[in-house]
Amino acid sequence: MIELSEQQSIANGRVALVTGAARGIGLGIAAWLISEGWQVVLTDLDRVRGSQVAKVLGDSAWFIGMDVADEAQVTLGVAEVLGQFGRLDALVCNAAVADPRNITLESLDLAHWNRVLAVNLSGPMLLAKHCAPYLRAHGGAIVNLASTRARQSEPDTEAYAASKGGLLALTHALAMSLGPEVRVNAVSPGWIDARDPAARRAEPLSDADHAQHPAGRVGTVEDVAAMVAWLLSKNSGFVTGQEFVVDGGMSKKMIYRD
Ligand SMILES: NC(=O)c1ccc[n+]([C@@H]2O[C@H](COP(=O)([O-])OP(=O)(O)OC[C@H]3O[C@@H](n4cnc5c(N)ncnc54)[C@H](O)[C@@H]3O)[C@@H](O)[C@H]2O)c1
Repeated sequence: MIELSEQQSIANGRVALVTGAARGIGLGIAAWLISEGWQVVLTDLDRVRGSQVAKVLGDSAWFIGMDVADEAQVTLGVAEVLGQFGRLDALVCNAAVADPRNITLESLDLAHWNRVLAVNLSGPMLLAKHCAPYLRAHGGAIVNLASTRARQSEPDTEAYAASKGGLLALTHALAMSLGPEVRVNAVSPGWIDARDPAARRAEPLSDADHAQHPAGRVGTVEDVAAMVAWLLSKNSGFVTGQEFVVDGGMSKKMIYRD
């Protein structure tokens, strides 16, 4: 359970929209923000699970079904938020085709490539576009969930890597366009165990999985949520256009074999 400090509770009454919040990191971010006093609109493609988790999160959570790659659905969803709350203070673009692996380059289907780019890169642009007027009105903030894969790769991950690299560029472009009223930053997680508790229990990570990280463990959704919450808070008021890596130090580790 997350403990509230006095400073944290200053979010009281502010409204955040978190995409892809039916599970994983997005759900963790929604829960964290609620614990800090935010009202959170969860959105997801998965309407059944999204509605269920919003119910569990309680009165400060509200769910809207939305495909972030579909501008008509984004327009409608943002209008619903404004209709319900009359304001919007924060946008967290977390929804993604989050499996980094595509098929080999030679077999890579253009439709798959286009869908990954549409969800992971066009989605955050559409959300920013339609939320911008309301975020400007309240000195709001945007956080985009990128990935360490924006800068490092395994084979057969072209679509995902390109989408996340593009998202870092979109982040600093938006920071210039929307400042000074709206700050825009990106968080790049490394390996985060974003599985449900049941899946984590059924297939626990190995000691080696944890030990390879300079921080001594694989990341949790709370590790990411804490960074997102800080970037949405007034405490980060001098921070915009930046990328924050939350990866237990993995991207700073020399990996040459002895
Ligand atoms: N888990 C990790 O190790 C990790 C590492 C680096 C970056 N990330 C990034 O963090 C974010 C969350 O990752 P996760 O592991 O929790 O993923 P996840 O797959 O568990 O959850 C993603 C959620 O996004 C939703 N979604 C997918 N397409 C959508 C669309 N078109 N419109 C609306 N919702 C849609 C899914 O239904 C799902 O609920 C993603 O942006 C991912 O790229 C995750």
